[in-house]
Amino acid sequence: MAANPQRAEIALEVNGREHRLTIDTRTSLLDLLREQLGLTGAKKGCDHGQCGACTILLDGRRANACLALAVAHDGARVTTIEGLADGERLHPVQEAFVEHDGFQCGYCTPGQICSAVGMLDEARAGWPSAVTEDLGGDPPALDDREIGERMSGNICRCGAYPGIVAAIAQASR
Ligand code: FES
Ligand code: FES
Repeated sequence: MAANPQRAEIALEVNGREHRLTIDTRTSLLDLLREQLGLTGAKKGCDHGQCGACTILLDGRRANACLALAVAHDGARVTTIEGLADGERLHPVQEAFVEHDGFQCGYCTPGQICSAVGMLDEARAGWPSAVTEDLGGDPPALDDREIGERMSGNICRCGAYPGIVAAIAQASR
């Protein structure tokens, strides 16, 4: 490892706020958010792109923050779980998770919610999933199978899946 790691200055808009940061070029977006900006909502589960606990919205699309090198996203717009609510008013997906008990320990929950917000936008835009049968028609109906497939990158170790699926189904209506 180099004695003097390369540093770079980047700009990021995070939850509506502009930041100019000097970073070690090896820093992941997840570490930058958690350790430099104190936004600990996005969780570090596996740090290998396998659990989804670190999911954020990157320029409006869901992404695993542990796999994103911060320096590669200079100028990006980031939304974390801390930025979804409108003041005291929860985002509809957050409300639905509360209503349907979509969490147990809650560790995966920020990633599940950010992923669901991104996924609902994808479905509204008509993007198919691996289980969508009609590829030419209207936006696919989000039944449990579609939701399960589209959320398959987000693992919940304590098995809150029934509540998670019910919450996302409600938020999709
Ligand atoms: S911590 Fe990023 S996918 Fe697991
Ligand atoms: S609520 Fe515990 S890992 Fe999902």
